[in-house]
Amino acid sequence: MIQTGTPVFETDDFETERISSPEVQPQDGEAEVSLRPKSLKDYIGQDQVKENLAVYIEAARRRGDPLDHVLLYGPPGLGKTTLSGIIAHELGVNLRVTSGPAIEKPGDLAALLTNLGRGDVLFVDEIHRLSRAVEEILYPALEDRALDIMIGKGPSARSIRVDLQPFTLVGATTRAGQLTPPLRDRFGIVQRLELYTPEQLCDIIRRSAMLLDIPCETDGAMELAKRSRGTPRIANRLLRRVRDFADVLGKGVIDAQTTRMALERLEIDELGLDKLDIRMLDMMIKGYHGGPVGLETLASAIGEEAVTLEDVCEPYLMQLGMLARTPRGRCATALAYQHLGYPVGDGAGQQYSLTDMLNES
Ligand code: ADE
Repeated sequence: MIQTGTPVFETDDFETERISSPEVQPQDGEAEVSLRPKSLKDYIGQDQVKENLAVYIEAARRRGDPLDHVLLYGPPGLGKTTLSGIIAHELGVNLRVTSGPAIEKPGDLAALLTNLGRGDVLFVDEIHRLSRAVEEILYPALEDRALDIMIGKGPSARSIRVDLQPFTLVGATTRAGQLTPPLRDRFGIVQRLELYTPEQLCDIIRRSAMLLDIPCETDGAMELAKRSRGTPRIANRLLRRVRDFADVLGKGVIDAQTTRMALERLEIDELGLDKLDIRMLDMMIKGYHGGPVGLETLASAIGEEAVTLEDVCEPYLMQLGMLARTPRGRCATALAYQHLGYPVGDGAGQQYSLTDMLNES
């Protein structure tokens, strides 16, 4: 059973405008949820994470113990929420979903924890955004399965200890580096999710098309996969948009030609770059000779938030090999020059040294 408390996602920023944003968007609605696989065997990709989790889940089940607390980290849109649902399903327990910013006061967390049943999974998205006060009461809950609650104020105040049912916390974050060390240390299982390969995304798209009853040819799925930034959430969102173009302007079937036409209209290029990626690379090349340029400088030059560039654009541009992070700032690589049609060889950023690359921040 999935229970959702206070809204988990904030959707009122510029990100909501971008069809190729990996963050949840209002138009994703129930479709995204309905496409989520419920068991490990239906989950495509992240093979190592899957294999490890299967062992830990089976071991916990055999011993009749709750699963150790799990931290999932990596770029947005890769399936952290989905995996938490799968963990609960495979363990045969309830899932309770919330997020760091939604737990405003220690009392909010106390209410969540005291309502958990034996072995239940509590999923906390954006766990790096928990307040200090909330984190403080989480520590004994994770370690001793107990809550220390203060009763009264002033000299007569006293603390009482309330025992909790054994439970599993699944924390998710895009920024593992921002977790406080005491919180990080309390997770027995830590798994990093990676961007998906086009082949894995192609399988995900074909599975989604089948579930949504959308006629989709393999070459159409592959074309879409190559432009989905390694991210299932984007692939599934684009699938629904391309279907509209196929129904109205094509033959009702998602093939390579319809996909190319639709994505051109959506201003997503053949590698999945959108206007923001192009603006970022263009500014690095034309404004800063290819870099190195600091992230904040670059963000204000193009009028965008530094976190958006860091969390949304950079992981994919780095995977494509178009951007390098160095201790002196960001650099556009020769590949970025080529992709944007600039002559290779006249940009300072292309000559970042081997030491810079090895010291990548
Ligand atoms: N839908 C979204 N992510 C998925 C995944 N990893 N496997 C299968 N279907 C998905």
